[in-house]
Amino acid sequence: MQNFIITGGNRLSGEIQLQGSKNSTLPIMAASVLVNGKCTLESCPALTDVYSAARILNGLGCKCRLSGNTAEIDSASVSRSEIPERLMGEMRSSIMFVGAVLGRLGECTFSIPGGCELGPRPIDMHLAAWSKMGAEISDCGGRICCRMPKGRAHGAKISLSFPSVGATENVILCAVLAEGETVINNAAREPEICDMCRFLRSCGAKIRGDGESRIVVEGVETLHGCEYRVMPDRIAGATYLAMTAAAGGEIILKNACIPESEPFISVLEQTGCCICCKDGRIYLRRGGRLKAIRDRIRTMPHPGFPTDAQAVLMAALATAEGTSVFEENIFDCRYRHTDALIKMGADIQVMGKAAVIRGVRRLHGADAEATDLRGGAAMVVAALSADGESRIGSIFHIDRGYEKFENIITSLGGSIRRE
Ligand code: UD1
Repeated sequence: MQNFIITGGNRLSGEIQLQGSKNSTLPIMAASVLVNGKCTLESCPALTDVYSAARILNGLGCKCRLSGNTAEIDSASVSRSEIPERLMGEMRSSIMFVGAVLGRLGECTFSIPGGCELGPRPIDMHLAAWSKMGAEISDCGGRICCRMPKGRAHGAKISLSFPSVGATENVILCAVLAEGETVINNAAREPEICDMCRFLRSCGAKIRGDGESRIVVEGVETLHGCEYRVMPDRIAGATYLAMTAAAGGEIILKNACIPESEPFISVLEQTGCCICCKDGRIYLRRGGRLKAIRDRIRTMPHPGFPTDAQAVLMAALATAEGTSVFEENIFDCRYRHTDALIKMGADIQVMGKAAVIRGVRRLHGADAEATDLRGGAAMVVAALSADGESRIGSIFHIDRGYEKFENIITSLGGSIRRE
């Protein structure tokens, strides 16, 4: 198992090009199952989850070839409606393929993707929506079998009890080739959902309202191939901004998604960093010590503060002047990185949904195990700002979300190596 060895204390400085968004690429790869033809996706991040998605596509009978940051996917030959248990277990986003296979072939057999590091991650909303769209759902020897008796889903009015990103995407995927119109109320509004819808529209889908809480999908008979560039990764962007805020220095994100990053930037600005967003670039400079955030930072569905950026911001606030408070409202177990930050000298108290961070002057290096993707990234952020050396283990979690992580940090002047 590999580790990151990090020596903290260097200021970071430089320009970086953001990777393509992982949370867009995965549903877009799933959406390509619906297409009767060839799609070329540019700017796909080279990440383990993307490789898993390619294996699922090939297992379904599609032809997916990854080369560098390009994915060529031909789903004309999709033939199998079963997703093997082993591939379902590799990543949570495997569930996105179910909506697409169901939409294209009218049936899908799969297993529950399983709870993950963030706590239980049920799929009840996905199943209830497919059932409303005509699916018969049964247990086939421990696996779930969804079948459209008429061979095709039909449109329906779906009201989500919570704006779940995955459920919204999965309903859209099932609705694109369905008979009639599907309306999703209380839909999630995350920018990655809009990216998936833009891709689907480029293939001929009829979707409107994405980015708002009411999405309407008018079913079409077939989709054609297209070329598409995935949007930049706003969470990777937030991580590099938080890292520079923590370590000190200045950074330019060259291809940032400015409006999509606004919920994060507006909070980060309150730390006293100088941030300027212009011409598709985000510039950040940290001069003196960071200031704590006065208002409670509540993670909420977009356009609220993103849960995926909670851990990396917490790592930066660990050395801010004053006390900051987070309230995690999306996932039950999203404070697992706090033990590692405490080991590095942070003063953090977790009480249910809340975490209270009393800023200390300095952190010190320590050995820690990454607990999950963003939690692991937070440990790297903390280690880069700490005195001395840290060893972060279980970095396969971090590799799920950050392309060329150590190369980028090294290019900014950080001291990090993989061994
Ligand atoms: C997606 C993102 C993830 C992000 C999250 C919230 C991808 C690949 N992953 O995950 O990075 O942290 O959105 O922004 O895009 N829930 C249910 N029942 C369901 C579905 C969800 O109870 O059927 C609950 C979940 O347990 C969780 C909450 O709803 O507590 C939000 O989950 P959801 O928005 O679905 O997140 P994901 O799509 O899994």
